[in-house]
Amino acid sequence: QTIYLNEYQVPAYLVDHVDLRFELFEDGARVHSTMTVRKNPESSQADAPLELNGDSLKLESVTLDGSQLAGDAYEEQGDKLVVHTVPAQFELNVVTWIEPQNNTRLEGLYKSSGMFCTQCEAEGFRCITYYPDRPDVMAVFRTRVEADKADYPILLSNGNPIEQGELEGGRHFVTWEDPFPKPAYLFALVAGDLVEKKDTFTTCSGRSIDLRMYVEPRNSAKCDFAMDALKRSMRWDEEVYGREYDLDIFMIVAVDDFNMGAMENKGLNIFNSSCVLASQETATDASFQRIEAIVAHEYFHNWSGNRVTCRDWFQLSLKEGFTVFRDAQFSADMGSPTVKRIEDATLLRTAQFAEDAGPMAHPVRPASYMEISNFYTLTIYEKGAEVVRMIHNLLGDELFRKGSDLYFERHDGQAVTTDDFVRAMEDASGRDLSQFRLWYEQAGTPVVTVSDEYDKQSGVYRLNIRQSIPDTPGQSGKKPQHIPFALGLLDQTGQPLPLNLTADEQNGPEERVLELTDAEHSFEFYGLSDRPVPSLLRNFSAPVRVQYPWTREQLLFLMSHDPDGFNRWDAGQRLAVDVIQSLMEASGDAEIDSRLVEAYRSLLNDTSLDQALVAKMLLLPSEAYLVELADQADVPAIHEARERVLTHLATSLREELVACYRRSLAQGDYQLTPDAIAHRSLRNTALAWLLHIKDVEGLAFALDQYQTADNMTDRLGALRALVNSDFVDEREKTLADFYDQFRDDPQVVEMWFSVQAASHQAGQLPQIKALLQHSAFDWKNPNKVRSVIGAFAGQNLAGFHKADGSGYQFLADQVCRLDDSNPQIAARLISPLTRWKKYAPQYGQQMKAALEHVRNKNELSRDVYEVVLKSLAD
Ligand code: ARG
Ligand code: ZN
Repeated sequence: QTIYLNEYQVPAYLVDHVDLRFELFEDGARVHSTMTVRKNPESSQADAPLELNGDSLKLESVTLDGSQLAGDAYEEQGDKLVVHTVPAQFELNVVTWIEPQNNTRLEGLYKSSGMFCTQCEAEGFRCITYYPDRPDVMAVFRTRVEADKADYPILLSNGNPIEQGELEGGRHFVTWEDPFPKPAYLFALVAGDLVEKKDTFTTCSGRSIDLRMYVEPRNSAKCDFAMDALKRSMRWDEEVYGREYDLDIFMIVAVDDFNMGAMENKGLNIFNSSCVLASQETATDASFQRIEAIVAHEYFHNWSGNRVTCRDWFQLSLKEGFTVFRDAQFSADMGSPTVKRIEDATLLRTAQFAEDAGPMAHPVRPASYMEISNFYTLTIYEKGAEVVRMIHNLLGDELFRKGSDLYFERHDGQAVTTDDFVRAMEDASGRDLSQFRLWYEQAGTPVVTVSDEYDKQSGVYRLNIRQSIPDTPGQSGKKPQHIPFALGLLDQTGQPLPLNLTADEQNGPEERVLELTDAEHSFEFYGLSDRPVPSLLRNFSAPVRVQYPWTREQLLFLMSHDPDGFNRWDAGQRLAVDVIQSLMEASGDAEIDSRLVEAYRSLLNDTSLDQALVAKMLLLPSEAYLVELADQADVPAIHEARERVLTHLATSLREELVACYRRSLAQGDYQLTPDAIAHRSLRNTALAWLLHIKDVEGLAFALDQYQTADNMTDRLGALRALVNSDFVDEREKTLADFYDQFRDDPQVVEMWFSVQAASHQAGQLPQIKALLQHSAFDWKNPNKVRSVIGAFAGQNLAGFHKADGSGYQFLADQVCRLDDSNPQIAARLISPLTRWKKYAPQYGQQMKAALEHVRNKNELSRDVYEVVLKSLAD
């Protein structure tokens, strides 16, 4: 059954107050809920029965205004509890029995390594009690948690603790009250034997906030970084968005079994352990940056998500797109803005563009869905963030801030739509964003095709720019969108030229944001004495594909001259893509363009360049990106060609790589600054390249680095280089040593799994199957599943895409197995198969067959059913 945006109706009943009482036991939990309910004056459904959502609940009693309801006064209809006649205002008490210890879906209340915890977004609260589980029903929650005191000394929920005490039989309770009305998806509860880490933050208005982290005792040394990141986030949101924290206490809890990264429950954020716990010895630079971004993301939700929430789940990007944009701005401010932009654009162009071109393509504001969990996508999050970024580009810093202030002020305490967000931006800025709204409504990645002409006589340079948006499932004949297109022009020496749009203009700016609104535009630039080199879509000013007939000379030129760091990197990527692609076209032993080698040589040699940018520029485009760019992807051919280029570069640049490696080693003590991170990245890239060509000096570097590293980036970098090499003995020995050393740390064991599963050397199917048998593997733990099966199918393309289809069958089997225990994870894991039309037929047909195999499974979950159904539709 499909749910449609255009069938939205306001709720028939509102809940003002909920009183919850949880009795937690080992064999289950009893949940007592007392709701103060009234008819919604804005609803036209005058005499509608009261309908509450429920899922996997055992109903024990229903009481209305103090009298227990007779059996015929209500009805349990599958996933609903219907109370036939109710007064205009009443108190409803519902008692349910649930079994958190058997909850493997990890939705609602469940147990994870001995502690109780919750995940209610999007529709998990209905697994706890019968409730109008929709985000436009907002209530004040009071929650009393009761449990055994010895096993569960810590009892948490949203808001402030208002009462606690002892109970009979060694039990105790704590009562929490959250004064801010909220939808049920923001509810949280935690009970466990946890250590508490305390800190404080003084807000801009001088209020002192209690900050607390709760983790299992063995993790108590891995909290400092997240706590500091939290304080940086709180300060940043005050300074950049004028947002002050509202409760007196803010809590973070780490849990090992979690479907997603983290959750912004009011005042009680719950994190996947891997997204919050870190130490120098156990976390890589990438993990630190990820943790900082996620801590910030969840914290920022307190305003963009909690104080102002979503009317319905079609509006998910209202909070997610905006909050991802906010956390990206924050990360850019904390580190290197160019590097952050490169990382975000890479993810978007590799994975979101693929989603937009596949069977699950949907607009940033979808028009329909079957299972909302399937819509926590790159489109909602990352493309949604790009859409907000474009508004920011169009309005500028100041008006954007005016717009966000207006949005928060106007809608505080409300559940609203993406349209309300855009309207606030319009009202504050005076700009008309009506065409811009199409970004929310139309799916698919716009293609912007650029051609140019130069007339020496008149000194006029003309850019012709066309846009078109491909058809996507259920959408064709799309209208042109409003695209901010940033560009600059360079002269032959690499100097920026003034962009004069009329013959009279003299000193135009060196960069302009052209606004594309029609299917076709021409822009003329005056006063140019030579043909300029265009630098297009600077800083990735819109989430579009740009087509322009770049010559390799132009790309080489931009690589070393573009003042826009992002476009320097982009030019290098385009050049490398071009070289790899032409190698694939010229079957046989085509030469590799020596200019690519020379470009990389100067990158390696020029220590005056921003090393963070150099570190990014040295990374060849990924196989996944090359697949995305291909018409009918032949993964083994892509893999071969890319490996050949890598081999050629590493062989030709051996001396430079050794020098780069040595230089980066001499950079001093461990620090977590952009510069130090860049040097570690350079060092580990150099190492990987040297081992790729089986260099014995490289091997010595790797073994030494592995032994002596004082941080996980270098230790794992050395391990990864070994794992991806032909040095089989050293690889196996080092892998065994690493496991021995870190076997008690789940986060590190997960990295150990994924380094192998993502490697075309160590991650062939028999090895993957062996990893599934490993004693540290756990089917019930999503991180373990992702680190083996997810890494294999998503990152190890050469291992997964085998001509005999064995990788596909394997994945289909694992998806079927997981579908019974955790449908959300199963539905995510299957996604590599959904792109079957993208691949050369001998692969695509077998991927399709694997999907059909999953479709034929008995009792398929709604999650997997929707993905498979849409993937197999023509
Ligand atoms: N709101 C959370 C975040 O963006 C993610 C929750 C995802 N939940 C889900 N069932 N898919 O941080
Ligand atoms: Zn979020």
